[in-house]
Amino acid sequence: MLSKKAIESAHRAVAENNVLASGSDGRILYVTRNVYLKLMWGSEHEIFPADQFKDDNEPQLSARENTILEFERRNEIYNPKIRIPKYHQLFETEEGEHGILMQRIFGLPVRELNEKQREEAFRQYDQQCELIEQCGYRVIPSTPYVNTLFNTQRGRLFLLDLMDWEKIN
Ligand SMILES: Nc1ncnc2c1ncn2[C@@H]1O[C@H](COP(=O)(O)OP(=O)(O)O)[C@@H](O)[C@H]1O
Ligand SMILES: [Mg+2]
Repeated sequence: MLSKKAIESAHRAVAENNVLASGSDGRILYVTRNVYLKLMWGSEHEIFPADQFKDDNEPQLSARENTILEFERRNEIYNPKIRIPKYHQLFETEEGEHGILMQRIFGLPVRELNEKQREEAFRQYDQQCELIEQCGYRVIPSTPYVNTLFNTQRGRLFLLDLMDWEKIN
């Protein structure tokens, strides 16, 4: 669990709309140097009408359901060799939006790496995908150019965003 101070910072980040990135599943807010908040979209949001239905025509889940889905999926990835952010706790804004407070990963996207770093990132990506498959999930989208960050100091690739992963059987 995070400290009361960190939770207060999260509420402040929402009030100040400290958005760092906005994607298909939600938006990422800066809370502290080490903590980011992912606030989820859901069927109640009409921001991405094209995403209202998944490929199999399943209706989209609510933001709360999406949040719980990603949080619980993270808990299924038990292998400590798998590098994905720690998900500290669920979070609800004063306006009833739902999200996850998570560990901030320090790193660069693969497209910004030099050739040597990129080679290493690709190698680790394959390794990570294999370990994740052992936990019962296929990484989607299956490219190191999306949803990854490479920490150049430690030479380590981290995977983000478990939302589109596919359960194997
Ligand atoms: N824990 C994190 N640490 C650092 N950057 C992050 C973290 N989570 C997300 N980001 C940044 O925000 C972007 C969008 O986050 P992501 O979880 O992929 O959202 P979406 O599901 O909307 O694609 C990522 O590509 C990454 O640049
Ligand atoms: Mg993403």
